[in-house]
Amino acid sequence: DGKYTVSLIEGDGIGPEIAQSVKDIFTAAAAPIKWESISVDPVFKDGKQSIPDAAIESIRRNYVALKGPLATPIGKGHVSLNLTLRRTFNLFANVRPCKSIQGYKTPYDNVDTVLIRENTEGEYSGIEHVVVDGVVQSIKLITREASERVLRFAFQYAQDVGRLKVRAVHKATIMKMSDGLFLSVAQRISKDYPHVDFDAELLDNACLKIVSDPTPYNDKVLVMPNLYGDILSDMCAGLIGGLGLTPSGNIGDECSIFEAVHGSAPDIAGQGLANPTALLLSSIMMLQHMGLFEHAERIQAAIFKTLAEGTTITGDLGGKAKTHEYAQAVIGNL
Ligand code: IPM
Ligand code: MN
Repeated sequence: DGKYTVSLIEGDGIGPEIAQSVKDIFTAAAAPIKWESISVDPVFKDGKQSIPDAAIESIRRNYVALKGPLATPIGKGHVSLNLTLRRTFNLFANVRPCKSIQGYKTPYDNVDTVLIRENTEGEYSGIEHVVVDGVVQSIKLITREASERVLRFAFQYAQDVGRLKVRAVHKATIMKMSDGLFLSVAQRISKDYPHVDFDAELLDNACLKIVSDPTPYNDKVLVMPNLYGDILSDMCAGLIGGLGLTPSGNIGDECSIFEAVHGSAPDIAGQGLANPTALLLSSIMMLQHMGLFEHAERIQAAIFKTLAEGTTITGDLGGKAKTHEYAQAVIGNL
């Protein structure tokens, strides 16, 4: 039928409502996407948490998935399903752009950052021990292989989108060995991209500079180890209005999962109050990844127009619209 099948993980809490908005808008825009809804409720294999085989097969078959929020338990004995997904499919690069939304007032109106986060290791490797009572070790694992993979991706991305400055963000002054390795790999890979400028910046300095004036970052691709990327991407999101407005793509060699980074917001779930923009913008990234640029452009323009008009926006943005009313307004602007 000329359609591409995409696996859809609606997720917890507000997930199903915001996924419905994406489906409605895609249908109205005649985007050639057929959704295959899957559940990733964990199963246990040999005592280890895993996602169901049917979900794994669906994502492998379709190469592309869109994912709503999954609740992350805090404490030991539970692994975040978000991380299980990233690990299962080896989604090694997490691309997180933050661009100011016209009409939504924040201290800066010209933010345009792009952050690429290593997505499989670092402090997220899940290796922790109690050494003796009261003393624990959490291992930050950095490998040449994973560093090379994400750095090469960042340089290639910079070249492909014509954003020709890559900056590695690190703390190699303190994490001499781990960040030192990441940084040395960055320097080596940069030689393979003579048309892309390369430099490096300490993480703390980058935080200070971005919140003081994000403008100098508008032409750069920032690339960094996992936890730094987790934190810095939220900081950048804060500059444009928060996680309700930022997309994210987890990219691997075999498949990719595009996801909203915000939580499942159980307090407002089921009431039609959620803002679907982050999941929508993630679905735009997904369309671009699939080469469906015209549909991506058209839907994105309708979203930005709706937000700029500001008459039919959700409560988190200061409006009164219900989730489906906002989606209808976007459809009206297609
Ligand atoms: C994110 C989230 C996840 C992370 C959580 C939900 C495990 O904060 O995607 O940034 O820490 O990576
Ligand atoms: Mn995060």
